[in-house]
This record gives sequence, structure tokens and C-alpha cells, in this order.
Amino acid sequence: MGNGIAQVAARSGFDVVMGDVAQEFLDRGMASVEKNLQRDVDKERLTKDDKRSIIGRIHTTTDLSALSKAFIVVEAVTENFEVKSEVFKTLDRLTKPETILASNTSSISITRLGAATQRPDKVIGMHFMNPVPVMKLVEIIRGAATSDETFEKTRGLTEKLGKLPLECHDSPGFVSNRVLMPMINEAVFALYEGVATRESIDGIMKLGMNHPMGPLALADFIGLDVCLAIMNVLHDGFSDSKYRPCPLLKRYVDAGWLGKKTGRGFYEY
Ligand code: CAA
Repeated sequence: MGNGIAQVAARSGFDVVMGDVAQEFLDRGMASVEKNLQRDVDKERLTKDDKRSIIGRIHTTTDLSALSKAFIVVEAVTENFEVKSEVFKTLDRLTKPETILASNTSSISITRLGAATQRPDKVIGMHFMNPVPVMKLVEIIRGAATSDETFEKTRGLTEKLGKLPLECHDSPGFVSNRVLMPMINEAVFALYEGVATRESIDGIMKLGMNHPMGPLALADFIGLDVCLAIMNVLHDGFSDSKYRPCPLLKRYVDAGWLGKKTGRGFYEY
């Protein structure tokens, strides 16, 4: 999602530094930005010159000290608390004291990420939806210590990105994944128990509920490892068995069938 966030910010006129651990990931991210913008050029919604300028505003780096002058950093690393908290500690050290540190986490506690830094008042959740360039919503999550000033600045920035910010408090899965993931998990249970085929389950939800995608296709699109990680956060966070991840979801993740990104999930790609 990081390259989608970089694309949206650069298209809105911001200078962006996109950082990652290896150049190959940055190259892949830039290729995705290039492809998305080209689609808009082909549809005559963007000129070639504008495309060039947008790409020119994204600078890539494997050295996080390049973020030292940033007004805000939006972290979008893997959905794992230890990894994210290490990144937040590093950003806390490298950036200006007034820099806002936002996380694109889909379910990890903003309060805990804030506590990993010396500036918990400037730590906030900025949860974009996939595909970032298309989806209007950004769920803005306030941790226990997030200040009103940080919230207002983040809300203002989100609007400048052409997105709609909607606020919620820090709670497992926030609102989006507290509601979405149990639905996906239940669809996996329906498949696991042989209630219906994958096509029927998805067709019933897509055509019957007017969802753009069925829940199993959506799980593949999000990534089954991400879905499982979020169910585990809900299960641990609420200590309620209703959030237990379906064994079939675990089995697919164990097999490395993570959805679209690995070429196989509930469907083959
Ligand atoms: N990047 C950029 N643009 C994309 C894109 C991508 N990856 N995928 C599709 N698009 C654009 C297309 O260019 C097209 O644009 P125009 O109509 O302006 O030409 C538009 O989106 C529609 O695409 P398609 O016609 O190819 O396909 P579609 O109509 O089936 O839409 C979809 C694709 C937008 C992905 C749609 O199926 C959808 O909305 N699915 C549900 C997505 C969703 O629920 N996202 C939230 C997931 S949860 C999450 O992100 C958070 C979390 O914490 C897990």
C-alpha cells in the first residue's frame, strides 16, 4: 500500500520520500505507480507532463535518515507489532520532534505504537484502503495520547489528498476490520464446512448485498496472511471466541497460499 499512498500524495502536489529496506521493493513500488498513472494518461485523465511531474516528486531511498525533514511519515510496513514498533523507534530518533508519525496499520494498537516513542501525542493511525488511489476513505485512529492538534493536522492532510477522513478511537480492528474481517472469516467457515462453493459464497454476497467483490475474492485481494493477522488481533484483543480464525484460513497461510500476491489463495491467479 506504501506506493499507493506515495502516488496519492505526489499527485496532490506533495514532495514524497518513499523508503524501504531494499531497492528492489522500491523499484517494484515505482513500477506500480508508473502503471497506475499510465492508465490515467491512456484514459486522457492525466497529461504525460503531469505524470512526469508526479513521478518526479517521489524520491526513493533505503536510508531512512532521508525522512529527517518530513512533516509527516506514514508507516506501511508489515502487519507485525515488533517490526512496526522498531520502525517507530527509528523514526522517533531520525525525524524532527514536531513530525507526525502515522501508521497505516489495519489493526495494531496506535496507543502501543505511540508508547514505543518519546512523542505519543504525535502518533496517529492513518488507515488507507486498498487500492489506495481508488478508495475514498481514510480511517483516522486516535491513540490514548494522540493530541487534538495531531488529529486536526492529519485530518487536514487527508482532505488535501482528496480523501474522506473518518475518525475512531483505538480499539482492536478499529471499525473497518472489526466489521469486515469477521464477515470474511465467516465466509471462509462456510467454505470450510462445505455450505457452498467459493463461487456461490462470493456470488451470493456480491450480487445479493451489492458488494463490489465477494468476501473470498476480497480476502485474496487483501492477502490471507493479513486477514489472519487481523483475526488474531481481534481474538487476542477481545478474548472472545467469536473472533477465532477459521482453520482453513490458517491452513492456506501455512501453505503459503496468500492470495493474489502469491498467485493462489481461494482462487488461482
Ligand atoms: N490501483 C489503482 N487503480 C485501480 C486498481 C489499483 N490496484 N484497481 C482498479 N483500479 C481502478 C481502475 O483503473 C478503474 O478506474 P476507472 O473506473 O476510473 O477507469 C476502477 O478502479 C475500477 O476498476 P476495474 O473496472 O478494473 O474493476 P472493478 O470495477 O471491479 O473495481 C475494485 C476494482 C476498485 C478493486 C473493486 O472491486 C472494489 O472496490 N473492491 C473492494 C475493495 C475493498 O473492499 N477494499 C478495501 C479492502 S480492506 C482494506 O484495504 C483495509 C484493510 O485493513 C484490510
